[in-house]
Amino acid sequence: MKLGRNDNCWCGSGKKYKSCHLVMDDKLEAMKLQGFKIPTRAMIKTPEQIAGIREASRINTMVLDYITPFVKIGVSTGELDRLIYEYTKSINAVPACLGYEGYPKSVCISINDVVCHGIPDDETILEDGDIVNIDCTTMYHGYFGDSSRMFMLGNVDPMWKQLVEDTKKALDIGVEVCKQPYCTIGDIGYAINQFASEKGYSVVREIGGHGVGLEIHEEPYVSHIGKPGKDYVLAPGMTFTIEPMINLGAPDVLQDEEDGWTIFTEDGSPSAQWEYTLLMTEHGVEKLAW
Ligand code: MF3
Ligand code: CO
Ligand code: CO
Repeated sequence: MKLGRNDNCWCGSGKKYKSCHLVMDDKLEAMKLQGFKIPTRAMIKTPEQIAGIREASRINTMVLDYITPFVKIGVSTGELDRLIYEYTKSINAVPACLGYEGYPKSVCISINDVVCHGIPDDETILEDGDIVNIDCTTMYHGYFGDSSRMFMLGNVDPMWKQLVEDTKKALDIGVEVCKQPYCTIGDIGYAINQFASEKGYSVVREIGGHGVGLEIHEEPYVSHIGKPGKDYVLAPGMTFTIEPMINLGAPDVLQDEEDGWTIFTEDGSPSAQWEYTLLMTEHGVEKLAW
């Protein structure tokens, strides 16, 4: 298992180990001795995989750009889902949510007190004052990108608008933490939860970000609540999402028992979410999908 300095690197780059992942492996080994939780090799993508994930993420960003002008008062979420399905197919990509663990639609659309995994349908019409999350995952040439954005329709309650804007800030604070390579997932969650709590919001605990790229959901789990220095170290080559769900009221959420998917706030308070796919590099994080 221990590679020689002049052996080919384990990542498949074709480079010698000493001029590829050796320095990183030594650094992680040293961190492990200090008590850090070190990622497995399966969590670290090869250069070829990274190129594929970058491309899939670019496509996913295009899908969200495409749908943006259609997100208007009066449109049904079912119609937005159909538009995304057709557009994704037209660019030779695959809407990855469709059929994933039995999920019935191409995209998740979550309105107001729906935290995430809202299922589009023709009866749900976007209304004045709604805050809406559109969460899209796209597969392209076998690789995955995943991101989501919020939309505010018409006259939104100022507190809800603030929640939407602050949730974006919370995500960007998470990204800021990742400017430091070899930070930990606990550092991210801590920073996000600190920010949200100071503003009087609560962070959803049960659902979080995740590794992404070769599958929709991979290890590690990315909690938006954490302790500094705890949980996995984020090493160069890791692709993952940050996607905080932040509630105006209490943190507790429930799952719809009938459809088995929709997550909503227990107290009925609104919830916001934004998501990026990110790549950790030797120089800090790079945004791949937004
Ligand atoms: N895009 C979601 C995420 O951010 C995954 C949705 S899976 C689905 O993790 F099946 F609900 F679509
Ligand atoms: Co997503
Ligand atoms: Co995600």
